[in-house]
Order: sequence, then C-alpha cells, then structure tokens
Amino acid sequence: MKLAVLTSGGDSAGMNAVVRAVVKAGILKGCETWIVREGYEGLVRGNTDAETPSSPLLSTTLDVKINDPTFIQNLRFGDGALLRDGTGDHPSGRTLKGRYIVRVGWDDVRGWFAEGGTLIGTARSQAFRTPEGRLNAAYNLIKEGIDALVVCGGDGSLTGADIFRAEWPSLVQTLRSQDRITDEQVSRHGHLRIVGLVGSIDNDMSMTDLTIGAPTALHRICEAIDNIHSTATSHSRAFVLEVMGRHCGWLSLMGGISSGADFIFIPESPPKADPWEDAMCEIISKHREIGKRKTIVIVAEGAHDVNLKPIRAEYVKDVLTDRLGLDTRVTTLGHIQRGGRPCAWDRILPTLQGVNAVDALLEATPDSPSYMIGIQENRVRRVPLVEAVKMTKAVAEAIKVQDFEKAMSLRDPEFRE
Ligand code: F6P
Repeated sequence: MKLAVLTSGGDSAGMNAVVRAVVKAGILKGCETWIVREGYEGLVRGNTDAETPSSPLLSTTLDVKINDPTFIQNLRFGDGALLRDGTGDHPSGRTLKGRYIVRVGWDDVRGWFAEGGTLIGTARSQAFRTPEGRLNAAYNLIKEGIDALVVCGGDGSLTGADIFRAEWPSLVQTLRSQDRITDEQVSRHGHLRIVGLVGSIDNDMSMTDLTIGAPTALHRICEAIDNIHSTATSHSRAFVLEVMGRHCGWLSLMGGISSGADFIFIPESPPKADPWEDAMCEIISKHREIGKRKTIVIVAEGAHDVNLKPIRAEYVKDVLTDRLGLDTRVTTLGHIQRGGRPCAWDRILPTLQGVNAVDALLEATPDSPSYMIGIQENRVRRVPLVEAVKMTKAVAEAIKVQDFEKAMSLRDPEFRE
C-alpha cells in the first residue's frame, strides 16, 4: 500500500506526532510512506515534474521486508531537514519547491512528537472546495500511485475528506474520460482508502471525547490564567479573557474550571438570566464581598446571549467597569493557545490513533466505511467518518436554533442538564 498523510485546517499540537506515528507504523507494516505538504492545497497542486530535484536521496527506493532483520538499516534518510526548516530549501541545493507530495522514511520523522504546530504545513484550501480542485487532487494522488490517505484536521477538514471519499469513483471516471489516467490506473485506484484523525484545539468533533491538540491548548490557557492571577490580585483588578474554540465552549469551560474563574460565557449555554449583565454583576459583587481581590471572566470566542447576539470581551469589560467600578483589562489569549510543544497526552493520543489509522487503511475493503479514529471512554475507537461528520453538523445546527439540550445530548447521549 502507498500511504500519504496530510494535516489540514488550523494547526494543533500533536499533528507532528500523528505524522510520525503514521509514517513509522506504515513502514513497519510494509507500506510506502508519503507526506502531503500544505494540507489539501498541496494535494491540489501536486508535483511539478520539471522541478523534481535529482537528489540521490530522493530517488532511493525503500524495499521494506518486515521479516528482514536488517530492514531498519535500509530505511532511508529523506527530506526531514527540508520539511523541518519550513521553506523547503536547503543550502545544498536540495529543494521541495514545486513538490507537495513527498516520499518520506523513518528518519525524516525522528523526534517529531515533541514539536509544536505541523512541520509538513497546513492550509485552509479554497481550491479543494471546488470540483476542479478535487479532480486535480485525485489526479495527483493517482499520478504518484498513492492509494491510501490519512487526513488529520478539524471538522471542516474531515468534512472535506468525506466529500472526497464519496466523489472518488466519479473523479476517477472523469480523469479517465479526459485521458489523464490509464485503464490500468482506473482499475488500481477504483477505491480510495481514507481515514480521518481529529486534530483541532477546539474539541468540537462529535463521536470522540477528545481531539488532538485540545489538551495542550487547555494547558496553555490554564497557565495563562495562573499568570494573570498574580497580577490581577496585586492590583485587585478584573480580567476578561477571550478564549478560542470557534463555536465550541470546551476550552473556555475547562479553562475556567481548572483556574477558578468567576464567570464563564460559552456558546452551548448562554446565560439564562435576562439581562445577563445583572446576573453576572451580582455574582461578581458577592465574590468581592467575601474577600476576593481579583475577578476572572472567560468569554469563549463564539459566546452569545439567548438572542444569539455575540457577547464580546470588550463589552463585558465595560459592564464590569461601569457597573461595579472594577479596574478591568481584556486579554485575548489568541494563538499562544495553539502553538508550542505538545503535552504528553498530545503525544500519546496521536501515536495510538496514528497506528490504528494505518491498521484501518490496511483492513479497508471497497465495502467497508471510511473511518474516523476517535477516543471514547479512554479507548481508541473507529467510527464511520460519514456519521461523525453528520453528527457534528447536527450539533452545530442545534446550537444555531438554540436547542442546547439537543446539542449536548448529541455530543453525549448520557447528558443530563
Ligand atoms: O479551529 C481552531 C482555531 O484556532 C479556532 O479556535 C479559531 O477560531 C480559529 O482556529 C482561528 O483561525 P486562524 O488561525 O485562521 O485565525
């Protein structure tokens, strides 16, 4: 099997560990392993033959025989350094320019599990959203002989994977009718094996308890609030923190619980009191009366009131200043939540899931569903990708129409308010 892995959408800690696990597990199981740079964008762009470099390292072929005791020595050292420096250039003249789909070996991904972000690059590709883009993506995979794909990204990226999987047979037929591929390629690539791993700090994917990168982001938030505590206490100030998470309040809620916030705004549970400003001020006044010298309010970036009017950190600051006379500052945590080294769990989870992903691809048949690898009740589980995508959309819809109970019970069937 020729297997490629890509990372897509917003980066998250643990994506490199996914690539490492997929490449190493793939090699150990006898696959040829490739990476796609810059997410789906790289898949659409593919490799420009004219610019393919002549490095002997790149043309070395790897003949893996699992039972051959010397096979580890045969694993080639490829383009790891080029991938790592981000530009794709090297003083030696080796370059990845014009090449988005790159064969990699064992040493290319050595030590990657401790690195933040994604070393193979990511993008929110507009081109892949178009039928022409997906046609080119299919062509580029077939051209390199790749028949299995691991996509690591958030709900948008996995929705893209699901569309690509569903369209695959017609894409292959179109490519044949345009004479871009041969009959032999049609019969070899009639079925695309695809598997999704959820890489996102937001923890907003249904049918998995935790997404890759969410634990690290939560650590960052917790640490940031700890740091704010000391300065807030010194000045007896209030701080309003804006936390990422798109339409999901998990990071805000967990960050608030783990740092003892006074008030938390999340999209899934807008403040019921009307006006909420009174309710918030009452609670915070009480906290002050019992001797708290600092106030921490967390606002999820997707927070809104019951009328779906966004609740903004600046507005909350004005309320605290004007009504309670608190000296208030706003801190937007921004991308420091997303960057940096993965915590231990964001190395373990992607490693377990990456290995499982390779097994799922090897076991795939034309009739089996494409899977998303999740974690449920502390066990790595495969769930049909199409269902996970559908369920995630249903949650988003329920939130949109303010059916929060439905949203929560879709996320967790045992949910009780
Ligand atoms: O989906 C991850 C995320 O970090 C969200 O929490 C946030 O809304 C968004 O991406 C920010 O995207 P960008 O990095 O493109 O500004």
